[in-house]
Amino acid sequence: MTSSNDTQIFTTHSSLETTAWAEDFARSLASPATIALIGDLGAGKTVIAKGFGRGLGVKEDIISPTFNYVLEYQGRVPMFHADLYRIEDANTFRAMGLDEYFDRDGVFIIEWAERVRDLLPANTIWIELSASEQESERQIRVTRGAP
Ligand SMILES: Nc1ncnc2c1ncn2[C@@H]1O[C@H](COP(=O)(O)OP(=O)(O)OP(=O)(O)O)[C@@H](O)[C@H]1O
Ligand SMILES: [Mg+2]
Repeated sequence: MTSSNDTQIFTTHSSLETTAWAEDFARSLASPATIALIGDLGAGKTVIAKGFGRGLGVKEDIISPTFNYVLEYQGRVPMFHADLYRIEDANTFRAMGLDEYFDRDGVFIIEWAERVRDLLPANTIWIELSASEQESERQIRVTRGAP
């Protein structure tokens, strides 16, 4: 891990390692929290959400909420998992009432969160995933507050 100020960078070499990383990260997370997941298609955002589910003690499988926009789970705290790939902008997000999750007690995990950047709470934890030349390597950059 390397770090500067409030940014930390981790490298993983498989989806299992990413899941384990996210599981560990989620275990020490206090509710309420908003997690903004950003990264290209296939970067590993859903893999991270699955790890969060485990770390928060959710017993069910976390599945991609692409067609539901948001799915709710119960672990040691509630977990809400949203995928905004099909949401154009903040107005649509609000019109669908998804901003109400910011006021709920729980961990709100948002894939493609950059689409609603202006609506996110100031203490949002940003997790940015990027691929590297090695197929199964990912860089995970964690920033607390605006990146
Ligand atoms: N180190 C790694 N960490 C996470 N995923 C990895 C890693 N190496 C390979 N993968 C693979 O990358 C893919 C990540 O898929 P995932 O659905 O999590 O991406 P996503 O960012 O949610 O994409 P989308 O934008 O389509 O929702 C999986 O097939 C996973 O097995
Ligand atoms: Mg996904």
